Amino acid sequence: MEKKLKIKIAPSLLSADFSCLGAEIKKAEAAGADMLHVDVMDGHFVDNITLGPVVVKGMRKAARVPLISHLMIENPEKYVESFAQAGSDMIIFHIEAIKNAEAIIKKIHSLGKKAGVSIRPKTPIKTIENIVNLLDEVLVMTVEPGFGGQKFMTEPAEKISEIRKIYKGDIGVDGGINLETAKLVIDKGANVLIAGSFLFGSNDMKSLIEKLKVL
Ligand code: DX5
Ligand code: ZN
Repeated sequence: MEKKLKIKIAPSLLSADFSCLGAEIKKAEAAGADMLHVDVMDGHFVDNITLGPVVVKGMRKAARVPLISHLMIENPEKYVESFAQAGSDMIIFHIEAIKNAEAIIKKIHSLGKKAGVSIRPKTPIKTIENIVNLLDEVLVMTVEPGFGGQKFMTEPAEKISEIRKIYKGDIGVDGGINLETAKLVIDKGANVLIAGSFLFGSNDMKSLIEKLKVL
């Protein structure tokens, strides 16, 4: 049995109250967040529009923990520099949005940032097989990207154990995470839990994070 990786919790700011982002960031940090997950959507790659580097820059001023930018955008290679300059500590791009994954990973690393790849629920693992060893995180989507508060999909979660066989680093799971689904994905080998509505929808984020960390 291999040593279990430490469970890390990344509240997704998509479900935060954007009228007081600074306070929401502080709340998540006080509750024990290891990092903050920032959902960037362009209305093309997904059917929703959220925020860009200017907002990440503001978040960076308020946050002490690492900021993870999850780019759900077309042509991510065009924007990694802006997100790096804005203060993202890790940039996660979608494999479906890119032709040359190796080049974008190198670019992100050359900017001094960590690089992650995300795969949509129906995307097969073979699309990332050749690049996993260059990555700092693999992020498995367990909802179709675009919106918070959707129902967890069981089928894409099955990919986690397959990825774990070929990748020893951080495996994140994004979409529909709560205590029950978190247990399921951790048992399959994931160790980074992204949760939006579950955490921000609660009035006791701290106790939920404590519970998630010991699953
Ligand atoms: C969805 C985003 C998620 C979202 C998760 O496209 O990538 O990060 O915030 O929200 P919940 O945890 O509510 O499913
Ligand atoms: Zn996300």
